[in-house]
Amino acid sequence: MIKNPASSFDLNSYLILKRKKVNAFINEILNNTASSSRIVQAMHYSLMAGGKRVRPILCIAASEAVGGNADDVLPAACALEMIHTYSLIHDDLPAMDNDNLRRGKPTCHKAFDEATAILAGDALLSLAFRILSSINLINKNNSSNQLKIIHKISFATGHNGMIEGQMRDIASEGTLLSLKKLEDMHSLKTGALIEASIFSGALLGGGSPKQIDQLEIYAKNIGLAFQVTDDILNIEGDPAVMGKAVGTDNARGKSTYPSIMGLDKSKEFAKKLVHNALQALDDFDSNSNSLRAIGYYIIERKK
Ligand code: IPE
Ligand code: IPE
Ligand code: MG
Ligand code: MG
Repeated sequence: MIKNPASSFDLNSYLILKRKKVNAFINEILNNTASSSRIVQAMHYSLMAGGKRVRPILCIAASEAVGGNADDVLPAACALEMIHTYSLIHDDLPAMDNDNLRRGKPTCHKAFDEATAILAGDALLSLAFRILSSINLINKNNSSNQLKIIHKISFATGHNGMIEGQMRDIASEGTLLSLKKLEDMHSLKTGALIEASIFSGALLGGGSPKQIDQLEIYAKNIGLAFQVTDDILNIEGDPAVMGKAVGTDNARGKSTYPSIMGLDKSKEFAKKLVHNALQALDDFDSNSNSLRAIGYYIIERKK
């Protein structure tokens, strides 16, 4: 058991509060579009299906850790959630993981149809970059930082990041990857967006270069821990709690941490990653307790 220095931090209330902010902002954005159209209905359906909002909350928490405030980074945080939701809609398609349940509801292509799901994903990606480049964000931050986060997020989610990770995930089905190759794949498909979320919050929040470097170490470690835990939950999670099917990685012949090193060692590895992540926060004050608590939450979560 690793000791949790942020154990007195009320993470539950923190998560509830930040999710409320994120959901309100997303609703506002979508209500400002032609809400009766089928495509907006599909975007809204997947966005509001009940995700944990880990990436926007990490963006907000990273900003707060360097003295920024949640409202100033809220548009960027929500844009990150839109990109994540788009990636899930496409990940669930028959051509990819072919899943029927997501966030406790039929996947987008099941609730609508495949063409609508593809287009809803595409539209969420475009909407995210519209929000990231919006004047609203410039007013609250400086435009050079705004450009830097757009660059970082587009790099992290494209063919050098999440998309390459997804490509490797699909291409390696049925083969057992080496540990190194698996780590690289997980870091790309899941880690890159988590890292970009934390970087964006830290930069917009006014973090110093040294603080941002430390937060990048935190991010790399929890990004990988997040996907290792996803692999573990795919074996021993409760589908009713998780809102998605379990046992699917094994059924599709995916390489995962448990398939390579076993469940117990995977859990130890995830703990070690969180330990490393928290070490990177040693020089931060109590404003980073949310990040500390989220580190534990990432490996202890049941969904
Ligand atoms: C699921 O992400 C896909 C992975 C990258 C592991 P989350 O576990 O954050 O899913 P939601 O957003 O809460 O549905
Ligand atoms: C989800 O990955 C999509 C991305 C990481 C881009 P997985 O396929 O591993 O996650 P789940 O288990 O479907 O949520
Ligand atoms: Mg997948
Ligand atoms: Mg999947």
